[in-house]
Amino acid sequence: MCGIVGYIGNKQVLPILMHGLRDLEYRGYDSAGVAVLDNGKISRIREVGKVDKLAKKVDGEKLPGNIGIAHTRWATHGGVTEFNAHPHIVDGKLAVVHNGIIENYRELKAKLKNPKLESETDTEVLAHWIYQHYKGDLVEAVRKSLLEVRGTYGLVVMHVDHPKQLVAARLGSPLAIGIGEGEYYIASDVTPMLPYTKQVTFLDDGEVASINGDGLKIVNLRDEIINKTVTEIDWDQETAQKGGFENFMLKEIFDQPVVFEDAIRGRLDMEEGTAILGGINLKQNQLKGIKRILILAEGTAMHAGLIGKNAFERLANLPTEIDFSSEFRYRDPVIGEDTLAFALSQSGETADTLMAIREAKRKGAVVRGIINVVGSTIAREAGAGTYIHAGPELAVASTKAFTNMVAVLLLYALEFGRFKFTSVATGKKMQQALLEIPEKMNEVLKRNKEIKAIAEKYKTYANILFIGRGVNYPVALEGALKLKEISYIHAEGLAGGALKHGPLALVSKDVPVVAICTQNQLYEKMKSNIQEVKARGARVLVIASEGDEEIKEIADDVIYVPKTMELLEPLLNTIPLQLFAYHIAVALGRDVDRPRNLAKSVTVE
Ligand code: AGP
Repeated sequence: MCGIVGYIGNKQVLPILMHGLRDLEYRGYDSAGVAVLDNGKISRIREVGKVDKLAKKVDGEKLPGNIGIAHTRWATHGGVTEFNAHPHIVDGKLAVVHNGIIENYRELKAKLKNPKLESETDTEVLAHWIYQHYKGDLVEAVRKSLLEVRGTYGLVVMHVDHPKQLVAARLGSPLAIGIGEGEYYIASDVTPMLPYTKQVTFLDDGEVASINGDGLKIVNLRDEIINKTVTEIDWDQETAQKGGFENFMLKEIFDQPVVFEDAIRGRLDMEEGTAILGGINLKQNQLKGIKRILILAEGTAMHAGLIGKNAFERLANLPTEIDFSSEFRYRDPVIGEDTLAFALSQSGETADTLMAIREAKRKGAVVRGIINVVGSTIAREAGAGTYIHAGPELAVASTKAFTNMVAVLLLYALEFGRFKFTSVATGKKMQQALLEIPEKMNEVLKRNKEIKAIAEKYKTYANILFIGRGVNYPVALEGALKLKEISYIHAEGLAGGALKHGPLALVSKDVPVVAICTQNQLYEKMKSNIQEVKARGARVLVIASEGDEEIKEIADDVIYVPKTMELLEPLLNTIPLQLFAYHIAVALGRDVDRPRNLAKSVTVE
């Protein structure tokens, strides 16, 4: 996720671009840049860090002009450096800003006639690719070059030969065009244009827009003209940033189907039924030398790690241990060169996890990161690893980072499994199941209203227990964590089988139980656990597989989720629990995005 702004009209463009970048900073904040076209020349200023830092650099620089583009970056390809910041310029003539991931950028790079690249980004390859197609018509250059592009993009292109034209295109990454009096605004969402116009049209996937002072023309990739409707926007600034959602947490829950695709995009080898995660950076013989996996994490990342443990053991037959990073470094853990230690972290800044990987390295383990924030401290210290591509997560309660961490761990387990134990048929079955996940996530999200109504019934309890078994035990932990951190209701996640060893004493009509009981190999066992709590008078909410009518006999409330492969169930089963916690917190009037006592990155021990 990055933020894009563009303007063409009669006003001075620089203040509009800078203002727009500030509005879009929530979409990415590791570096930013602007480019303005004036008098046949493109001038550009870029800076690492937040928009404020760019503003300081821009201050005093005179960048006059009425046409320009700008970008605030959330790194995906390439580290956080000025060279990697957008806009990217080719030959001083063509400038591009891009939000998305170009999946086949290596393939395109190999086809460049003059690949004088100065960055490590997929976007710069795309800019050169468009430049190579340019024969005097900018729209044609963009349209034709996109025919061979795989991946996602929201992009805006500017060329010195066309001082009155911007070209924008979209596939998978949002772009809105604001229509003013003889002027146009382009942005990743409507926020930057709201002070100037409320008349907006939204580009759809596969559309290319030619925008100039005289008009707006939109075609599809087959060059057919598309007639668009113009919408009158009545959102305020804040609502627009949240994509119309009430707060960031809800937006991020709803982001999951899209960002999940980003996590697996380009990482499946369909021929071989395996995954390809270049970031592991180990030769085949080194990989074969790995005898143990260790996952170091905290909080939600820890729960994702537990799901990874299950997958590594089942698919790759690799003993896998997971540890709170805060505990690990104060023990005397037995690890060595045959241990692959993953640091699992959304922020990449969690102090405990950082210290833990330093300790693991000291003891000789191979350390890799599975991180969301590109260029973060843990990502840099790990030296290699894989980004989860969840985009900026702003709500303190982690949601989309969880599902994307699980996605990447599953891919690793598949890759390791295919080296040794997993057959190509099982690999292909899992790939298919992964590809179906976004659609199934959407089906769960469609139940939002229903979940809200159920949440109403549970909001007054002081304690709620969550139970699950096997792959759904970490889901129970995560459901309980979500609830306690944003609603302040006391909640515990428990293994269903552990109930009778103590916690059952807590169960009564005043302590409801949320049971994750989808139809996997432990289904019957989970049903027995539900019976145990029912017999003690508890109200029971069950997360059940679609079509399971029988479960209604023992459940007070049911939320159905689509069926999938057992190992992938947490990707779907966690979503209703995120929504459940969210609606209870809202009903109790809590500040869901910023719960008391908590911070998004815990950079202290
Ligand atoms: C999750 O909702 C929490 N806010 C918290 O547990 C978080 O997952 C934990 O602090 C780890 O953070 P990280 O992923 O940034 O390392």
